[in-house]
Amino acid sequence: MDNAFKTLIYEKTEEGIAYVTLNRPGALNAYNIQMRDDLYEVLRAIRDDDEVRAVIFKGSGEKAFCAGADLEEFLTAPSPTVARRVRFDRDVWGLFLSLPQPLIAALHGYVLGSGIEMALCCDIRIASDDSKFGLPEMGLGIIPAAGGTQTLPRTIGRSRAMEMLLTNRWISGEEAYLFQLVNRVVPRDQLLPTARDMARRIASQDPKAVRFAKEAVNRGLDLSLSEGLRLERALFLRLTRGRNQEGTDHRTTREA
Ligand code: COA
Repeated sequence: MDNAFKTLIYEKTEEGIAYVTLNRPGALNAYNIQMRDDLYEVLRAIRDDDEVRAVIFKGSGEKAFCAGADLEEFLTAPSPTVARRVRFDRDVWGLFLSLPQPLIAALHGYVLGSGIEMALCCDIRIASDDSKFGLPEMGLGIIPAAGGTQTLPRTIGRSRAMEMLLTNRWISGEEAYLFQLVNRVVPRDQLLPTARDMARRIASQDPKAVRFAKEAVNRGLDLSLSEGLRLERALFLRLTRGRNQEGTDHRTTREA
């Protein structure tokens, strides 16, 4: 499926690392309906591809990971057709958040609106030292609609999220690091190598254990501690039972 998309580039390496590049550099990779459809397709393909062990999301061009929703489309097509509506109802963000593989966002330049929201759907965020993060939705009389009002406070805490959201204050990569919005800030030329090293480390672990660990953390965050501990135990048993079962099956096959 390499490069079958109008707004994305999809690549997969032999070591099981997939790259999704937002590819509308002339519009600072703004998120439009076509990108939503492309993302939906690529995320489904990743979800169903066991060869993919880790995914890196990045933006093409010098200036931005993503400058938010496409304002031209937003301003010129306020009343979508029925067909568009159907596509609009695709739950891209639910799909994004439910992917079993670890997702890494490599963020440079402007990371605005849906750009931050995409990054927040990822498990690990690396920023370059030229990055700028902001939620300009208030200025347009709207609120984030790709999960940002939920994922941002869960990541950086309520008051910091409120400040970013309600005042439209943009923050630098360094400040994003202090807010714990990103895991690391690196020089621009180190952004992809850092993301790639991290993806390689993940890809070198047991893939099933990696998926179970991601599920335990993400599902557990919505639970009380005691429920979370029960979830962890259930996943641990499922993982190890599955292994014992595989061992038994293996022995049986060899002995037969
Ligand atoms: N939707 C559509 N096109 C966009 C865009 C967006 N969200 N953001 C930038 N672009 C386009 C510009 O129209 C411009 O196109 P052009 O070269 O054909 O004129 C191109 O990307 C470069 O942007 P420009 O504004 O010239 O770059 P800049 O460095 O001067 O400013 C920003 C960068 C990000 C500060 C500015 O583009 C901006 O404020 N964008 C809108 C951000 C926003 O409100 N997003 C919506 C969030 S809900």
